[in-house]
Amino acid sequence: MEIRLSTKEDLTAIDEFDIFLGNRMTEIERGELWVALEEGKIIGFMSFNDQFYAHPFVHFLNVRKEYRRRGAGAALMMKFEELCKDKERIFTSTESYNLPMLLLLDKLDYKCCGVVDKIQKESEIIFCKDLNSED
Ligand SMILES: CC(C)(COP(=O)(O)OP(=O)(O)OC[C@H]1O[C@@H](n2cnc3c(N)ncnc32)[C@H](O)[C@@H]1OP(=O)(O)O)[C@@H](O)C(=O)NCCC(=O)NCCS
Repeated sequence: MEIRLSTKEDLTAIDEFDIFLGNRMTEIERGELWVALEEGKIIGFMSFNDQFYAHPFVHFLNVRKEYRRRGAGAALMMKFEELCKDKERIFTSTESYNLPMLLLLDKLDYKCCGVVDKIQKESEIIFCKDLNSED
């Protein structure tokens, strides 16, 4: 599996399985979107930036349905971790009912660090992972 920074030419392929609102052009233009490829086909994407109280935060993670449970989601999160290896702590979030993501985060040793209500019907759970924290 290859993981690389996304370019504008990827947008059509990403749109085929993007489940999030809008499209990912803004993240691509900002250099914040990474894609996973298998035999040249885009099978997943992940975006992050440093704008969560100045900490790295994954906003979008998505894998094509037919390619799930083959390690792409974990590989994209490991790429995030690698790119942030000098940071103190990294963050992401997911809905309280999203079992696949909750299990993925547990496997990668993320810890729950808060819950936000009132964004949507279900609670949003915030997760973090200490990389170089002395706390
Ligand atoms: C969450 C998501 C990104 C996981 O991607 P994936 O490529 O299927 O995940 P992986 O194959 O890397 O799974 C890694 C581990 O996560 C856990 N896991 C992932 N999906 C799971 C599922 N459906 N059931 C149980 N465990 C699951 C397992 O521990 C798995 O390890 P294992 O296969 O060795 O048991 C994918 O389900 C997805 O795109 N969902 C829709 C979008 C979404 O919810 N994004 C996250 C919130 S922004």
